[in-house]
Amino acid sequence: MQVSAIIPAAGSGARMGGIKKPYMDLAGKPILAHTLTIFQQCPLVNSIVVVTAKDDEARCVQDVVTAYGIDKSLSIVAGGDTRQESVFNALRELSSNTDVVVIHDAVRPFVTEEMILQSIDNANQYGSAIVAVPVKDTIKESDDDGFVMKTLDRCRLWAIQTPQTFKYNLIMKAHLYARDNSIQATDDAFLIEQIGHKVKLIMGSYENIKITTPDDLVIAKAILESKL
Ligand code: CTP
Ligand code: MG
Repeated sequence: MQVSAIIPAAGSGARMGGIKKPYMDLAGKPILAHTLTIFQQCPLVNSIVVVTAKDDEARCVQDVVTAYGIDKSLSIVAGGDTRQESVFNALRELSSNTDVVVIHDAVRPFVTEEMILQSIDNANQYGSAIVAVPVKDTIKESDDDGFVMKTLDRCRLWAIQTPQTFKYNLIMKAHLYARDNSIQATDDAFLIEQIGHKVKLIMGSYENIKITTPDDLVIAKAILESKL
């Protein structure tokens, strides 16, 4: 089985104050290096595609790939204006003999090997599998005037994380369909839903946070310290 990981790392970090998050330091090494090390060590992943901003390729190679000994078959692809475009650019670089594609945000450094393996296993079985956790808060939907419109049933609500893992043909079909029909999404599973294919939820972890805003860095440091 040929398994490729796509690591989108081409964002601009607007919510972090315009800092490119994959290259930010977390306990002495770039966030992207934490993430890539986990994929480097995962035995079922054969190759990795990192998507970087156009002017970051050299920095990615020098400061992360070479500096942290990421020597699994690795290629670097230029990103697009949106995460969806970045992932699509990487998908188009994959060899057509790829069986399974694991898509994982560069800025989720607490993914575990078990999550990756489980997502691959479930994608093999169901075509599509995404890591998620049950929401802890009560979630309400608002109207345009800032009033509660309805309260959603928490038992059925999941906060969606990555990895999101798919059979290659399925995720290619979904991205091509999205491109041809101008469908935009913040995650890949939504594109699978649009072509009418089921998406299997698998249990993630509350530690598998996406580093998005400055307060997430405080939480990330605490998570790392708790593991020492
Ligand atoms: N990403 C990407 N290409 C883009 C936008 C995002 O590869 N055009 C990547 C980010 O680098 C990140 C992941 O997708 O690893 C999740 O995106 P997000 O957390 O939203 O990061 P940013 O887009 O950089 O942050 P913001 O939305 O605050 O600008
Ligand atoms: Mg973004």
